[in-house]
Amino acid sequence: MRTRILVCLLALSLAPQLSFASEASPLGDRMEAIGDAFKPLYRGLMAGPDSDQIEQYLAWTRTIKAEATKAREHAPAMTAEMSEVDRTAMVKDYTADMDTFVKKVEALEKALVAGNLTQAQVLVKGLKAARNDAHGKYQEEEEE
Ligand code: HEM
Repeated sequence: MRTRILVCLLALSLAPQLSFASEASPLGDRMEAIGDAFKPLYRGLMAGPDSDQIEQYLAWTRTIKAEATKAREHAPAMTAEMSEVDRTAMVKDYTADMDTFVKKVEALEKALVAGNLTQAQVLVKGLKAARNDAHGKYQEEEEE
């Protein structure tokens, strides 16, 4: 009985963290999908690009483009707590940055179609820099 009570108390104390950890948002889901494609793409291109892998690089790049185009239609979670004026301004900046990001992804797609892997390496580094910059502006600090 005592063990059961202890187990219940433990479950109750963990419940809020579990629900926070599994919290999903439409933008978070799009970002996860971008991350799943970006990781192997970046690693593959930077590890010494392989011209036999161009179709695979292109598939990842097109996934990133499609997911970023969908992500553009959502607002960053941090805007939910803002005044309407601040929210409108941030959504405008976010949308413009996402448009620029999609253009950069399209430039990478073009380089891959042309088989220019040296240029593709430069462009994939640019995507990483754009990600870091955007996350600095629009991603909420992780809660402890
Ligand atoms: C290579 C490019 C990028 C990668 C790999 C990437 C990846 C990710 C990942 C893995 C997350 C965490 C998702 C989660 O919360 O479950 C995230 C969050 C986020 N990213 Fe990106 N991202 C990229 C580019 C961008 C760009 C260009 C923007 C904005 C213009 C952006 C805005 C955000 C925002 C706002 C969040 C927090 C989610 C929310 O507010 O709901 N990301 N990203």
